[in-house]
Amino acid sequence: MTMTASKPLALEAFKLDIDADGIAVVTIDLPGEKVNLLSEKLMSEMEPLMLRLTEEDVKAVVFISGKPEGFIAGADVKMLARVRTAEEGEALSKAGQDALNRIEDLTVPTVCAIHGAAMGGGLEFALACRYRIVTSDASTQLSLPEVQLGLIPGAGGTQRLPRLIGMEPAINMILNGSKIRADKARKMGLVHEVVPKELLRDRAVRAARQLARATADLGHIPIKPASAKRPARTLGALMLQATVPGRALMYNTALKTLKKKVGNHYPAPYMALASIYHSRGHSFEEGLALEAESFGKLTVSDVARQLQNIFFASTEMKSEPWRAKDGSVVKPHAVAKIGVLGGGLMGGGIATLSADKGYRIRVKDRDIASASKAAAYADKFFSEKVKKRHIRPYEKDMAMGLLSVTDQYTGFKTCDMVIEAVFEDMALKHKVLADVEAVTRPDCVFASNTSGLPITKIAEGSKHPETVVGMHYFSPVEKMPLLEVIVTEKTADWVTATALAVGRKQGKTCIVVGDGPGFYTTRALAAMMNETIRVFVEGASVEGIDQAMRDFGFPVGPMTLIDEVGFDVAKKVLVTMVEAFGHRFPVTDEAILLFESGRLGRKNGRGFYTYEGGKKGEVDLTVYDQMPYGRKRQDPSPKVIQDRLAYAFMNEAAMILEEGVLRSPRDGDIGAIFGLGFPPFLGGPFRHMDTIGIANVVNRLRDLKQSFSKSFEPAKLLVQMAEEGKTFYGGSN
Ligand code: NAI
Repeated sequence: MTMTASKPLALEAFKLDIDADGIAVVTIDLPGEKVNLLSEKLMSEMEPLMLRLTEEDVKAVVFISGKPEGFIAGADVKMLARVRTAEEGEALSKAGQDALNRIEDLTVPTVCAIHGAAMGGGLEFALACRYRIVTSDASTQLSLPEVQLGLIPGAGGTQRLPRLIGMEPAINMILNGSKIRADKARKMGLVHEVVPKELLRDRAVRAARQLARATADLGHIPIKPASAKRPARTLGALMLQATVPGRALMYNTALKTLKKKVGNHYPAPYMALASIYHSRGHSFEEGLALEAESFGKLTVSDVARQLQNIFFASTEMKSEPWRAKDGSVVKPHAVAKIGVLGGGLMGGGIATLSADKGYRIRVKDRDIASASKAAAYADKFFSEKVKKRHIRPYEKDMAMGLLSVTDQYTGFKTCDMVIEAVFEDMALKHKVLADVEAVTRPDCVFASNTSGLPITKIAEGSKHPETVVGMHYFSPVEKMPLLEVIVTEKTADWVTATALAVGRKQGKTCIVVGDGPGFYTTRALAAMMNETIRVFVEGASVEGIDQAMRDFGFPVGPMTLIDEVGFDVAKKVLVTMVEAFGHRFPVTDEAILLFESGRLGRKNGRGFYTYEGGKKGEVDLTVYDQMPYGRKRQDPSPKVIQDRLAYAFMNEAAMILEEGVLRSPRDGDIGAIFGLGFPPFLGGPFRHMDTIGIANVVNRLRDLKQSFSKSFEPAKLLVQMAEEGKTFYGGSN
């Protein structure tokens, strides 16, 4: 069938082709954007587009993206950030709903052809079509991630999705913002057909043609096209969904899970749940009205603003080039092969993640058995992916084929970068650095994954200190989103640019910080951990401290975190901090006693908590026995615990910025949230200080200093900002 060129369409976001059978192909291609967004332009052009389709008397319509890598990536977040009142937000949601209702109102079949991401408004667009066909490509992922931006789907998603796939799967998908791949989407009944990427357009047109024919025969659009797979539902799931008490039970269970997971800090998932629940027992229009009202309220909530700030900052950081002092952009060197020293927890993680991203990896450890642990780590990681059907077995074999292990330096000569993750010991770091330099090229980058040792000191052992840089990963490496790149006075710009390029290819959000003990993340965390131990020594209970900080918004309490990190590691970091900052890190005798008591935390099954078979149990009461007040614990109010710990963190962060180790408040916020679990809804330590007001922060620090310890002496920067009425992000308070 030949395509006939139709009259030019005076629209910018859409291109229209209609063939001789009246099958229209609408190509969505927002001008000037890398990806399609459900922007104001796209929504405003929907009405004239539909009018034109009706005028042309088309028989069926295919929507497909003109962008090579995605369908529609979601609503334009910048448009959302411009909303000033809840009414404006509600109107925006209604405009989106109306635009998509126009697709649904077409009297001819509509087919949505998706390759790549269909997120948020993109998936809502697809849901308004009759038939969805997706490519089997791994990049094809469907999701409604609005709750991650503090919002809910606002263009009909909370209404159409539960009606299509059932309430429970819709709750799971919307409340978690989960990304659904092609095969799963078909099983869930979310899409009708999965095809190879190359066939997408042809198959979509074929489906449109079949549907047009069936429509002509039936006199109406068939409800379920022939190839639609019904959602696989169990009898139990159907009972839950179909009966009023069943739905109430489902709602209450979801509510309970939510309370446990997000507490009271995030309103969006609660509103999403209410809106989805409303989809039963109410008309579609009533459902849309509640959805728009909730969306409006959320657009102006503090939480949504903070989450959007994080989104903008991290998006900006993904593509920010590294610039030399004179402002010129510095190009990274090409990296194809990476040597990893140490096949332990971190080395194994770094090797695995790098192989996953296509780097050739050579892991060296003291002996083959230790080096092989990295291969075992990788095997487990890729097997899991195969099991989840994210990759095929041959893809696992290919990734594993990129990784080899050794107890010698063979194969290091051709490495473009070496990342060391050996024990945290300066003498050892110097030794491996010298060994590596004896075999590698002079322009091979040497990156250290030390958690706290100054990179400048490590570089003192180097023949080419300009090639030495810190690449501080977080555990577990494949999951944690942050990479802290540490540069010394001598690190060459191309080396920084290369570390950034590798980190980004590994999927990390990277911050570049100056050198110093503990850099940024370890040092700010150490300040908080030190205060944690002080609060504990003064009589607070293990669970009281953990609960208070979870209520503050951290994902795990600090006592649990010390157990996870290990008492030995915590002690090493504290010693480094005390050496560097003396009186500002006051460590009590009891804290030393605690750290030398033979407890290591989870790794030897003895920490603040008990561990049986690797599973965390109750508080280990014997941990109190060496402490003043013994087992007689008395918790200060949660607010006092939260203030002491959070202010210790924020004050230290301010000093790190003042010293120029941090380059910007933005990097400090992203580093704390992505690396340390600082509560995202607060926007990070710097945004949080802006919210509190810098003068109020200074006053509270002075109170804390008077009541508890001189370590709360406010950072000079804060005092100066308070005097000048400044904030970290501009504007005054
Ligand atoms: P680990 O104890 O699991 O692994 C260290 C590995 O280094 C062991 O396999 C050991 O055999 C190997 N090794 C020792 N001497 C060696 C040599 N001469 N040549 C080659 N390999 C040698 O330790 P982990 O936790 O992986 O830590 C490694 C580094 O990463 C440390 O500097 C640590 O401070 C840092 N780090 C650790 C984090 C964590 O959460 N565990 C987080 C961020 C950084």
